[in-house]
Amino acid sequence: MSAFGGPVPDIRPRRTRGTEAWRRLVAQNRLHTAELVLPMFVREGVREPVPISSMPGVVQHTLDSLKVAVAEAAQAGVGGVMLFGVPEHKDAIGSGADDPDGILNVATRVAVAEAGDALVVQTDLCLDEFTDHGHCGVLDGAGRVDNDASLERYRSMALAQASAGSALLGLSGMMDGQVRAVRDVLDANGHQNAAILGYAAKYASALYGPFREAVQSSLEGDRRTYQLDPANSREGAREAAIDIDEGADIVMVKPASLYLDVLARVAAASPVPVWAYQVSGEYSMIEAAAANGWIDRERAVLESLVAIRRAGADAILTYWAVEAARLIREGNRA
Ligand code: PBG
Repeated sequence: MSAFGGPVPDIRPRRTRGTEAWRRLVAQNRLHTAELVLPMFVREGVREPVPISSMPGVVQHTLDSLKVAVAEAAQAGVGGVMLFGVPEHKDAIGSGADDPDGILNVATRVAVAEAGDALVVQTDLCLDEFTDHGHCGVLDGAGRVDNDASLERYRSMALAQASAGSALLGLSGMMDGQVRAVRDVLDANGHQNAAILGYAAKYASALYGPFREAVQSSLEGDRRTYQLDPANSREGAREAAIDIDEGADIVMVKPASLYLDVLARVAAASPVPVWAYQVSGEYSMIEAAAANGWIDRERAVLESLVAIRRAGADAILTYWAVEAARLIREGNRA
């Protein structure tokens, strides 16, 4: 008997899979160009874009090449860009981070001027690109990352970034209380409209490896005392809830593809948009396998993105944003 008491029908789910027209019609999730965000690296003191060897196709931009690439992203229909700075000089407190003439703040002004209202210019708010020890915060006398002293630095960075025109501050440092600290200082200084993206569930992942080349990180050791343990999903949900309580406008799960369960869990409970960051290692693994001819590159790229969408991401940070936008516009699907 069937569920409704009638005769058992001849169940044939394949009926709706027979042609691409059918598959397109019944596709439950699809990608949109506007929900892709392109992370971009901008390096101080270089005359030409510098390729990142572990991320084929990705470069450290000059201010000039940044401009061109921002225009290209806008043209492609990409929803936003997330900027990372690579300073020439690093020091213990990451002085370049809140210097109005620091590379990230200069790049932000350039990108905002170029983008206008065509896409949302966003900035990474973290110290690791700017510190000589490579940690996301400042260190105490014993060499440990000092949570509250780091918040002081984040407040100052937040003001510099909002003043430079960043519309969305991406707090990726994983310090406790960072969302509240930054929201308070923004509000107290007339930046009520600057939004906050809390990297709520950011895991201590091996997949950030290529990124460390991209920002020329000097980190020795790891970030396990502040980023989440890959074994924990409940804690990812808790971190997201805390960031939302502290005033995050959007929360992030990162990395994406190895953490789809966390993403689904956060997405099911969140009253604010949930984004996912397809990180450097996710990019490089697919690029490397494709370069060897082991997988179909375009299909793997689109499949990786639609999987993140299916798990519940409202938007995705991906180094393939511009290319994926073109594939989507051409009607390609995973
Ligand atoms: C920290 C930050 C990192 C990434 C984005 N923001 C590195 C880290 O936490 O070690 C990694 C992104 C990627 O791997 O693509 N500023």
